[in-house]
Amino acid sequence: MTSPKQGPAVIITGAAGGIGTALLAAFDAVGWQVVSTDILPLERPAHIVGDATLFSDPDSPEAARLIEELRSATQGRLTALVLNAAYQVVKPCEQLSADDWQKTLAVNLLAPFWLSQAFLPELETNRGSILAISSIHEKLTKPGFVAYATSKAALSGMVRAMAVDLGGRVRCNAICPAAIATPMLRAGFEGQPDAYRALEAHHPIGRIGTPDEVAATALFVCSDAASFMTGACLDLSGGISVRLHDPV
Ligand SMILES: NC(=O)c1ccc[n+]([C@@H]2O[C@H](COP(=O)([O-])OP(=O)(O)OC[C@H]3O[C@@H](n4cnc5c(N)ncnc54)[C@H](O)[C@@H]3O)[C@@H](O)[C@H]2O)c1
Repeated sequence: MTSPKQGPAVIITGAAGGIGTALLAAFDAVGWQVVSTDILPLERPAHIVGDATLFSDPDSPEAARLIEELRSATQGRLTALVLNAAYQVVKPCEQLSADDWQKTLAVNLLAPFWLSQAFLPELETNRGSILAISSIHEKLTKPGFVAYATSKAALSGMVRAMAVDLGGRVRCNAICPAAIATPMLRAGFEGQPDAYRALEAHHPIGRIGTPDEVAATALFVCSDAASFMTGACLDLSGGISVRLHDPV
């Protein structure tokens, strides 16, 4: 029988997704005790199924139960809270419904806030940090992304404001990736290699990012090597966020 890890613990939300999978592997590989959560089940120890939309009502018994399950799995060693789950609705703003907004804001903004608030005591005791996976959409967006882009702008704003509010007690940061080659993104380009290559070429670095690159950055931000970093929203865009798109 393998003994449980005694290293620092991390909670990773949205763990069943493309970037979530890479985050789990990266923290696990360097000895963190990884507690994962997602609305989807995962075949791994310390995975807790939970719906982030519960945090529309943070006082509900279901939300409290989810927090207690996560807390008990971290065994007092919580040192990083990685807020990675997201809900993305893509449609013209004329068609956005109340349900679209409620789900988007619950998963992308309210759940990150209420989880952060709930785990502040142990994060402070363990000199830990909060890391939100925001998006390039916090600043730059495209048609159809009004709800998602608004939620990511608010998430990055929350990270900056919490960093100021918490001072040196708990570091708060965000990573803002541009397009990342998750299995889902690749599947969206199935049979369209030219379109995929055009997307890559649009990035000054000549390609799009990988889930492992997001995970490696996350590991650094949550480590003691980044001990002076708080309130940062790190651009991880292969340079596309600093490129002019003039027609000439
Ligand atoms: N992939 C990209 O190109 C890209 C770029 C920039 C930012 N991001 C951000 O990275 C993070 C991870 O994205 P991804 O590409 O891995 O997406 P993904 O869709 O593969 O993963 C998102 C995860 O969130 C979970 N989730 C959704 N609704 C939930 C709910 N109600 N309760 C609990 N969990 C829920 C999903 O089940 C999924 O496992 C997100 O915050 C996303 O906004 C992704």
